[in-house]
Amino acid sequence: MSVTITFLGHAAFRLSDGTHTVLIDPFLTGNPAAEAAGLSANDESPTHIVLTHGHEDHVGDTVAIAKRSGATVIGAHELCNFLAEQGVETVDSANPGGGVPQSFGRVDLTHAFHSSSFGGRYMGMPCGVVIRLGDTTIYHTGDTGLFGDMKLIGELHRPDVVILPIGDRYTMGPVHAARAAELIGAKLAIPCHYNTWPPIEQDPKDFQPEGIEVRILEPGHSTDV
Ligand code: NI
Ligand code: MN
Repeated sequence: MSVTITFLGHAAFRLSDGTHTVLIDPFLTGNPAAEAAGLSANDESPTHIVLTHGHEDHVGDTVAIAKRSGATVIGAHELCNFLAEQGVETVDSANPGGGVPQSFGRVDLTHAFHSSSFGGRYMGMPCGVVIRLGDTTIYHTGDTGLFGDMKLIGELHRPDVVILPIGDRYTMGPVHAARAAELIGAKLAIPCHYNTWPPIEQDPKDFQPEGIEVRILEPGHSTDV
């Protein structure tokens, strides 16, 4: 079965297999890329929300969307505790190295080299997320620098698609991200976390992993895998 991947701007994505809809890092309100594309949190009714870490540009509209849709939110332990305090009814917490089965398949959390806080409060470990939807596996590295164990994560999870940041400054830039995609070894790579604001301006054409197909998605646009 194929999965439709829609880019919602910045690091936010919607995955759908026709039955389940999984949002990753649904930051839409205040996201210039999402707003320019006419995307609104009010239009999102996911069954699940997966969060890489607690930064405001990733948690985004999670609380509002989860309260309205009843979506299960999956993420790091401390982040899930915080969201439960905010009134999110169903959270499913994990930590890097572990995973949780879901109705659509499974979510595993991986390492990410970054930080994780919300309003200055510690939100647990920053993570990458490996989402297995039916027989398609998508690895969103989250905000991270390059690290050698990406090769091991690729070997363990055999992702079909990798989504990774190329904005530099807070994450990998295009050159390190290309190296990351080569280590992970997915056939298809989708760049994100760039051109949302001037400090992370990049030309995605500078992201050229060897032997890996790159699909550059405009906010609001989809691709099937
Ligand atoms: Ni971050
Ligand atoms: Mn970020």
